[in-house]
Amino acid sequence: METEMPPMDPEGIDGVRMTWNNWPRTKVELSKCVIPLAASVSPIRPHPEIFSVPYPPLRCKQCTAVLNPFCRLDFAALIWICPICYQRNHFPQHYSSISETNFPAELYPQYSTIQYTLPSVPQQNPNQNPGFFDGSENNSTIYLFVLDTCMLEEELEFAKSAVKRAIGVLPDNAMVGFISYGTQVTVHELGFSELPKVYVFRGFKELSKDQVLEQLGISSGGSRRGIRRTGASPVGIPESGISRFLLPASECEYTLDTLLDELTTDRFLVPPGKRASRCTGVALSVAASLLGACSAGTNARIVALVGGPCTEGPGAIVSKELSDPVRSHKDLDKDAAPYFKKAISFYEELAKQLVSQGHVLDVFASALDQVGVAEMKVAIEKTGGLVVLAESFGHSVFKDSFKRFLEVGEQSLGLSYNGTLEVICSKDIKVQGAIGPCTSLEKKGPAVASTVIGEGNTTAWKLCGIDKTTCLTIFFDISASEKSDPSGVNPHLFLQFLTSYQSPEGQSLLRVTTITRKWADSAHGAEDLVQGFDQETAAVVVARFASYKMESEENFDPTRWLDRSLIRLCAKFGDYRKDDPSSFTLNPFFSLFPQFMFNLRRSQFVQVFNNSPDETAYFRILLNRESISNSVVMIQPSLMTYSFNSLAPVPALLDVASIAADRILLLDSYFSVVIFHGMTIAQWRKMEYQNQPEHAVFAQLLQAPQDDAQQIIRERFPIPRLVVCDQHGSQARFLLAKLNPSATYSNAHEMAAGSDIIFTDDVSLQVFIEHLQRLAVQSS
Ligand SMILES: *[C@@H]1O[C@H](CO)[C@@H](O)[C@H](O)[C@H]1NC(C)=O
Ligand SMILES: *[C@@H]1O[C@H](CO)[C@@H](O)[C@H](O)[C@H]1NC(C)=O
Ligand SMILES: [Zn+2]
Repeated sequence: METEMPPMDPEGIDGVRMTWNNWPRTKVELSKCVIPLAASVSPIRPHPEIFSVPYPPLRCKQCTAVLNPFCRLDFAALIWICPICYQRNHFPQHYSSISETNFPAELYPQYSTIQYTLPSVPQQNPNQNPGFFDGSENNSTIYLFVLDTCMLEEELEFAKSAVKRAIGVLPDNAMVGFISYGTQVTVHELGFSELPKVYVFRGFKELSKDQVLEQLGISSGGSRRGIRRTGASPVGIPESGISRFLLPASECEYTLDTLLDELTTDRFLVPPGKRASRCTGVALSVAASLLGACSAGTNARIVALVGGPCTEGPGAIVSKELSDPVRSHKDLDKDAAPYFKKAISFYEELAKQLVSQGHVLDVFASALDQVGVAEMKVAIEKTGGLVVLAESFGHSVFKDSFKRFLEVGEQSLGLSYNGTLEVICSKDIKVQGAIGPCTSLEKKGPAVASTVIGEGNTTAWKLCGIDKTTCLTIFFDISASEKSDPSGVNPHLFLQFLTSYQSPEGQSLLRVTTITRKWADSAHGAEDLVQGFDQETAAVVVARFASYKMESEENFDPTRWLDRSLIRLCAKFGDYRKDDPSSFTLNPFFSLFPQFMFNLRRSQFVQVFNNSPDETAYFRILLNRESISNSVVMIQPSLMTYSFNSLAPVPALLDVASIAADRILLLDSYFSVVIFHGMTIAQWRKMEYQNQPEHAVFAQLLQAPQDDAQQIIRERFPIPRLVVCDQHGSQARFLLAKLNPSATYSNAHEMAAGSDIIFTDDVSLQVFIEHLQRLAVQSS
């Protein structure tokens, strides 16, 4: 198995990147830094050098931090001193052989990140009937499929075959359940293939968990403890248990295949001029309640395949009148989306239920119009679920993503469960909150900041679903109180991230990452701060923060806020003579940042009116949960050129000037990958030169970007849309929209003095930078 590292790995073994690597010492100094103090954390990112130990960790008796390479050790007295709280801790007896030449792995400097494999304790439940099990015990995972049937027949066929394939590839011990819905919700029994039985719920009525379980004939008493293993029929277990609805994939494949073959589109007639009556909200709520009958912490996910907007019952996003369009950003802005807030509250409640059960919601949405991802976002994000938005269940964006979702082994997404992330930090550091796929665990303590960003009021978060690529942004503040020192003598601060979770193999794991950073020395002026600035991380954190503000603050103007922040940042960290724009220069640690902001202003995250609210929600969910390097590409796409001069790709400026007739461009904007043939190349291709032996080099030139695009697509989830287009072709817009318009007008030179808006129009990068310089050097 190959474990080749990418050539550049800025996250390293720790999976942590920070906006500022040397921290401002005071709250006041931090506020002058403009860019928030934040860490982007990839809690379970794989790395070949992560060492695993088979014993439980030693913990500091004061702050509960885990023994780590930064501890000071007194071998003679068998004591370790916690670097975070300075507590002296005694090593236990079994560490007594420790010495300068013999110490355990968790103290090795290179293991700043280490993994503890914890014994999976079988549930010690005296009342537990033999023959019952928990997901945690035999590490099976429950996949509860929820399939929309209000679709065109062709779409439903695509969706059905996806579910069928899924059952075929799931591990044999995976448990499967199936719910279909349209006007009503149908819960299918999978236990008896001869006599398929269904339970129908009306689509307009919200039911509590207990009502759902009662209707399904599941007694919340006995069966709450677990699912009965099929086969054996132990005495005392009611046949009406949940095992009728959730079965091992291997046992229900035939039943489910038959059932899917017979499943038709929703049989209720849709009158002309009306939308289908679709009760997505109730369907998901019934699914959550069904899973609620399993023991808490059982690994389970709802896999919803949704083909259109909810129009019936709670969670509805639009009326059934086709003349009534689905809400747009303009409607949301004008408060003219009557269903929006109600639907959001419904999904907030659903999120609470799922999080308390420890279960995940995944949404695979495929439709030309919107389906309500904007409303469902809260439940997807808070449970750590996945989302894929495609235009059809027949499109490769859905099909290949779904395949990837179900993949097992080394190439899999590494879908894990029951995650918690906790951060322990040095004195004077406060935690404001986290943005990303998580829910606050409301863990209070002195490190909790009074101001909240995202999931706040806590130093620990729940991640019901967590995978290899999961990433969170944690925002920090500095305590306002006078430094009591020791920070004056100790130039270092420490943070420890503890992530416990259940791996796909069912192992209980605890990953501990301890990192140290320097307090910036105020004697050096801004120099220390400058040297520790990570502009890629800063750009991504600003994008996440701006998106969060757009969602949570009314009348927030992102362009104005970004411009103001950028001007302040350049005024503080640029080198210039006052009021002399031509003297302005930026240190290399900052020099890419203005261009990131230029592209962020033009991006889908800020120019939301170019997209639907569903698309915006989708982009944001991914921005918030992807690594820094992937998120940078969402903000500022990468562009490569291929030509006869160089078959190997050469990075190109993200500018219309990079287009040439004899070049091929490869644009990666994360959500789409565009191969763009210059005019001449396109002509030659149409004349099929590539098939003539004397033009083998041309064939190679055509192939190279295809191979590179496939490489990008393979590594990504969701699978990006691949667009292959020609210069002047209609699809070329996918490229042109992302390029700096250097060759278009740049006449808007006049600008009000003292304005904090650099530009509201689509100007070129050069004009943008000129104005930035002018504003940054202005005396304020
Ligand atoms: C889930 O995680 C919590 C916190 O780490 C732990 O206490 C609990 O035992 C876990 N549950 C299961 C079923 O693994
Ligand atoms: C945080 O806690 C405070 C008081 O403990 C409460 O008033 C506030 O609503 C909480 N904020 C959030 C976002 O949970
Ligand atoms: Zn401690």
